Amino acid sequence: MANKATVTVRAAGPKDEAAWRRLWADYLTFYELTLDPAITDATWAKAMSDGSAIFMRVAELDGEVVGFTMSLTHEGTWITSLDCYLEDLFVDETARGRGVGRALLDDLVTLCRQNGWSRLYWHTAEDNAAARRLYDSYVETDNHIRYRIEF
Ligand SMILES: CC(C)(COP(=O)(O)OP(=O)(O)OC[C@H]1O[C@@H](n2cnc3c(N)ncnc32)[C@H](O)[C@@H]1OP(=O)(O)O)[C@@H](O)C(=O)NCCC(=O)NCCS
Repeated sequence: MANKATVTVRAAGPKDEAAWRRLWADYLTFYELTLDPAITDATWAKAMSDGSAIFMRVAELDGEVVGFTMSLTHEGTWITSLDCYLEDLFVDETARGRGVGRALLDDLVTLCRQNGWSRLYWHTAEDNAAARRLYDSYVETDNHIRYRIEF
């Protein structure tokens, strides 16, 4: 792996729109997905809105935004505080292997602790080896599998 770099993680803001849209497009390509542009627009708007549970954090390397997480908090029946669900994590291909993904996850762990949220959880594809190497260094999988009906 390349040398680790100094990564800064912070809340995303309006000035990050162009960088996020580039990364988001690459993220969709990674998943071999095309998405209605109206959904991308709505996702950006939610991430920027104080009224939405969705929030975005971005990672900067040498002053450039090279990765992001998009997460949301929600209530739960097994907790009195909030759960934090990490929905999207992406690092630009040219910046990978330098600790950006880990910095983004560490940032969420810190946010959860600071806010008193109960749990941080996420899903990944079983065969996403690079992501799983990173995730396995935090916690073991909890032996749940996902069922989903799409409408
Ligand atoms: C998964 C992903 C976010 C990792 O980001 P990254 O910036 O490369 O990760 P890091 O450099 O912080 O690596 C963290 C650890 O993961 C492991 N790792 C990550 N990518 C790896 C690779 N290609 N080969 C070997 N190990 C790898 C290393 O063990 C590393 O451990 P270390 O910190 O002890 O060196 C990035 O590969 C990515 O965006 N992939 C495409 C999108 C994706 O899969 N998102 C997650 C969907 S659930």
